[in-house]
Amino acid sequence: MKYKTQKVAHAYFLVAMGLFAIQVIGGLLAGWIYVSPNFLSELLPFNIIRMIHTNALIVWLLLGFFGAAYYLVPEESEREIYSVKLAYIQLIILVVGTLGAVGSYLVGIHGGREFLEQPLWVKIGILIAALIFLFNISMTVLQGRKTAITNVLLTGLWLLSLLWLFAFINPDNLSLDKMYWWFIVHLWVEGTWELVMASILAFLLLKLTGVDREVIEKWLYVIVATALFSGILGTGHHFFWIGTPGYWQWLGSIFSALEVIPFFAMMSFAFVMVWKGRRNHPNKAALLWSLGSATVAFFGAGVWGFLHTLHGVNFYSHGTQITAAHGHLSFYGAYVAMNLAIFTYAMPILRGRDPYNQVLNMVSFWLMTGGMAFMTFVLTFAGIIQTHMQRVVGDYFMEVQDGLSLFYMMRFGAGIAVVVGALLFIFANVAPRREIIKGSGDKATEEAKV
Ligand code: HEM
Ligand code: HEM
Ligand SMILES: [Fe+2]
Repeated sequence: MKYKTQKVAHAYFLVAMGLFAIQVIGGLLAGWIYVSPNFLSELLPFNIIRMIHTNALIVWLLLGFFGAAYYLVPEESEREIYSVKLAYIQLIILVVGTLGAVGSYLVGIHGGREFLEQPLWVKIGILIAALIFLFNISMTVLQGRKTAITNVLLTGLWLLSLLWLFAFINPDNLSLDKMYWWFIVHLWVEGTWELVMASILAFLLLKLTGVDREVIEKWLYVIVATALFSGILGTGHHFFWIGTPGYWQWLGSIFSALEVIPFFAMMSFAFVMVWKGRRNHPNKAALLWSLGSATVAFFGAGVWGFLHTLHGVNFYSHGTQITAAHGHLSFYGAYVAMNLAIFTYAMPILRGRDPYNQVLNMVSFWLMTGGMAFMTFVLTFAGIIQTHMQRVVGDYFMEVQDGLSLFYMMRFGAGIAVVVGALLFIFANVAPRREIIKGSGDKATEEAKV
C-alpha cells in the first residue's frame, strides 16, 4: 500500500463481499421457488426474496465501486484521501440504509418499483452518502495529479449519482414513470457504470501489464466516447412498448445495437494490453478476473443484449426468460466480475501480503463463470420456448411455465455452482494469513510493486 488512507477500501470491500454472499444465496432461494413454488410462501414470499437479491446486488456493486475509487484515486492522484472520516461516515450511512431497506422488505414495506423498492428515507440516505463521496473524492483529485483514469472514473460516478435523483420522481402517468425509471436502470448499466468499469479495467491493466499510460488512455477515451454515443439514445430500446412515440422503435434499435461497440472495445483492450504487456505480474488471479470480466461482459451485454434489442425481436421476447438470461450474464460479466477483479488485485496489498490462495481464487472464477454461463444457456432455451408458446402459439402464461420446469431445475443446479464459487472467492480473499508457499514468486512480487 503506497498511501495509508487507501486502507478505507478494505472496509468497503469486506462489506461488499458480505452482501455478495447474501445476494447469491437470495438468488438461490428465488431459484428454488421456481422449482418448488410454495417454498417459504408464507414466511418470505418470492417478491421479497427477489427484492433482496436484486437490491443487495446493486448496493454491493456500488460499495465495490466506492471502495475501488478510494483505493485507486490516491495512487493515481498521488496524494492521500481528503478525509478518511467522511469515507467511513459514508460507509456507515450505506450500511444502515441497507439494513433498513432489508428490514422493511422483511415486514412488507417497499416502494414497489423494481430495483428502486427502498423506502424514501433510505433513498435520501443513499443520496447523502453519494454527496459525501463526491465531495471527498473530488477534493482528493482536485488537489492532486489528474489522469485520464480519474477523470473518467469521476465523470462516471458524478453522473450516476445525479441520475439517482430520478429515483425521487415517480409521476402518476405510467409512461412517464417508466421513462424516468429507465433513466436510472438503463443509464446506469449502459452508460455511467460503463465508465466506472472502463476506468477500473484501465487501472488494473496499467498495473498488471505495465503498458504505457498513453496507450491505455487512448483506449479509454475511445471506449468512453462510444459508450456515451450509443448508450444515451440506446435508452430507446426500453421505450418500445411503454406508450412513447413510435420513432423510439427506430432510435432505440439503431443506437442500442451500437452499444455492442464499447463492450467489444473493452474486450479487445484487455487482450491487446496483455499481449503487448512487458510485465509478468504475480497476481495471476487478478489478471484472470480482468480478462474474464471484459470477455463475459461482451457476451452478456453485447451479444445477449443485441439478441433482443431490435424492436422486431423485442416485440416477441419482451419480459421473458430471455431478458433474465441477459440480465444475469451482463451484470455478472461487467460489474460483478470487474469488482471481483479489483478486490483480487487490491486485497493482498491492503492486507499487507503477497497474492496468495491464488489457485482457490482462480477455481472460484471458473466455478462462478461456468455456473453463470450454464444458467444463461438454460434460461435462453427456456426463453425461446416461452416466447414461442406464449407469444406465437398463444398458450397461457402459467401453462407455459409448467412446461419449463426442467430448465428451472437446471438453473437451480447452476446456481449452486455460483454460490459455492462465491463463498470460495470470499474465503480465498479474507482467510487468515497462511505462510507463503515456497517458490510462489516473492521476488517477482517485489519487482511488480512499482
Ligand atoms: C452474481 C450473480 C448474479 C447476478 C449478477 C444476478 C442478477 C440478477 C438480476 C439483475 C435479476 C433481475 C433480472 C431481470 O429483471 O430480468 C435477477 C433475478 C433473479 N435471479 Fe439472479 N443474479 C445472480 C445470481 C443468481 C443465482 C446464483 C441464482 C440462483 C438460481 C439467481 C436466481 C435469480 C432468480 C430466480 C431471479 C428472479 C427472476 C424472475 O423474477 O423471474 N441469481 N438476478
Ligand atoms: C453491462 C451492461 C448491461 C446490463 C447490466 C444489462 C442488464 C439488463 C437487465 C437487468 C435488464 C432487465 C430489466 C428489467 O426489465 O427488469 C435488461 C433489459 C434489456 N437489455 Fe440490458 N443490460 C446491459 C447491456 C445491454 C446492451 C448492450 C443491450 C443491447 C445491445 C441490452 C439490451 C437490453 C434489452 C433490449 C432489454 C429489454 C428486454 C425486455 O424487453 O424485456 N442490454 N438489461
Ligand atoms: Fe438498456
